[in-house]
Amino acid sequence: MTDRYDDIVKKVLVSEEEIAEITKRLGKIISTDYAGKELVLVGMLKGAMPFMMDLAKNITLPLEMDFIQTSSYHGGTSSSTAVMFKKDIDTNVLDKHVLLVDDVVDTAKTITKVLEIFKGRGAASIELCCLLDKPEGRVVPYEAKYVGKVIPNEFVIGYGLDYNELYRNLPYVGVVKDEVYK
Ligand code: PRP
Repeated sequence: MTDRYDDIVKKVLVSEEEIAEITKRLGKIISTDYAGKELVLVGMLKGAMPFMMDLAKNITLPLEMDFIQTSSYHGGTSSSTAVMFKKDIDTNVLDKHVLLVDDVVDTAKTITKVLEIFKGRGAASIELCCLLDKPEGRVVPYEAKYVGKVIPNEFVIGYGLDYNELYRNLPYVGVVKDEVYK
C-alpha cells in the first residue's frame, strides 16, 4: 500500500494482485459457463464500475454491457431499508442471459429488489457476480453464483466502494479506520 490513503485506510483487505487473480478466475469460469449463449453484463452503478471492466476483459466471449443504478447506502456506512432505482437498462434482455455485476452484497436487499424486476423481463437466466460478499450483513437470504471473496462485516472502500462518494478510485479494497466514521 502506498501512503496516499494512510489517513483513512487501516489495512488492505484485497490487494491489486488479489483483485487481478479474482477477475481472471471468475472470467474463466464465466467464459465456460456462458459459451454459446447471448450474454449481457449488467453493472450496478456506481460501485461495480472498476470490477465490471476488469471482469469483462477476462471474459473471452462476445457480450453486451449495460448498467442500472440503485441506491441503498445514501452516503452513510450501513444499508437503509428502501432501495430506489435511478437508472435502468435500455437493452432488450428477452431470451438473453443476464449476469448482474456488483461490488458487494451486504444485506442483499438491493440484489433482491433488482432480481424481482428482472424476473419479469423474459431473460433466459439471471445471475449475480459480485467482487465481495459480506454474509454476516444479510437481512434477506441470498447466495450469489459468482463471488470474488467473502469478507468480514467491516467498512471497506476502494475499487468501486465509496465513503461519502470518495475513494472509489483506490486500486485495492481497504478497511476504513474506526475513527474516520465513528
Ligand atoms: C452498494 C453496493 C451494492 C449494495 C449492497 O451500492 O454497490 O449495490 O450497496 O448493499 P445491500 O446488499 O445491503 O443491499 P450503493 O447503493 O451504496 O450505491 P453505489 O454502488 O453507487 O455506491
